[in-house]
Amino acid sequence: MEWDFGTLDAAQRYKLLVGLVVPRPIALVSTQDAAGVVNVAPFSFFNALGDDPPIVILSIENRDEGPPKDSARNILESREFVVNMVDEPIAAQMHACSEAFPPEVSELERVGFTAAPSRRVAPPRVAESPAALECRLHTHIPIGARHLLIGEVVWLHVREGIVDPTTLRIVPENYHPVGRFYANRYCRTRDQFTIAPNEYNRRRAAVGKG
Ligand SMILES: Cc1cc2nc3c(=O)[nH]c(=O)nc-3n(C[C@H](O)[C@H](O)[C@H](O)COP(=O)(O)O)c2cc1C
Repeated sequence: MEWDFGTLDAAQRYKLLVGLVVPRPIALVSTQDAAGVVNVAPFSFFNALGDDPPIVILSIENRDEGPPKDSARNILESREFVVNMVDEPIAAQMHACSEAFPPEVSELERVGFTAAPSRRVAPPRVAESPAALECRLHTHIPIGARHLLIGEVVWLHVREGIVDPTTLRIVPENYHPVGRFYANRYCRTRDQFTIAPNEYNRRRAAVGKG
């Protein structure tokens, strides 16, 4: 089967893209509005895309009625957000955060998460998350009905035991993030495998990025 993407409507393109480009990492994003209300919502059009500067990107669609979602509005107003990574124990709470709560309601308390103070940005991180990336908005690119929000990571929190402090390698036995397929379909990341290292791997290792 094949499709000329120009002949599909946005919903059809969305279905095919989110079904095929998988699994996607999930950013559970905490933001804060001017009144101090903390908002937490998941986004899987998300990835880490650079290390110098260290950047992550979110793609947040406007609501069906037109205005930005609370997360996008808060990021555009405050220029700050926290990406909380999602592992198996908090997957169901993350999913619950995707419900459309009124802006004055904090999903954080609703779903039983605990706010922990951030170091460089105002929005708190989610204490139950295994890793939290404090971000400042680097660039905003509006595309169609979406906001591409590029954040620069300014501070990193990681739960004890997940990173080997000497090698900075992640300890896979202690880190179990979940990925997203589509709708309410997720995957675990426990089934990892390796392939014999090649020249590229050796070159990367030589510059400390192996
Ligand atoms: C796992 C998951 C991933 C999601 N990814 C996105 C996404 O990348 N972009 C988006 O606009 N909405 C995404 N959503 C929907 C938002 O989480 C949802 O619209 C939420 O209510 C937005 O909250 P807010 O208005 O508090 O920002 C996702 C939902 C789930 C459950």
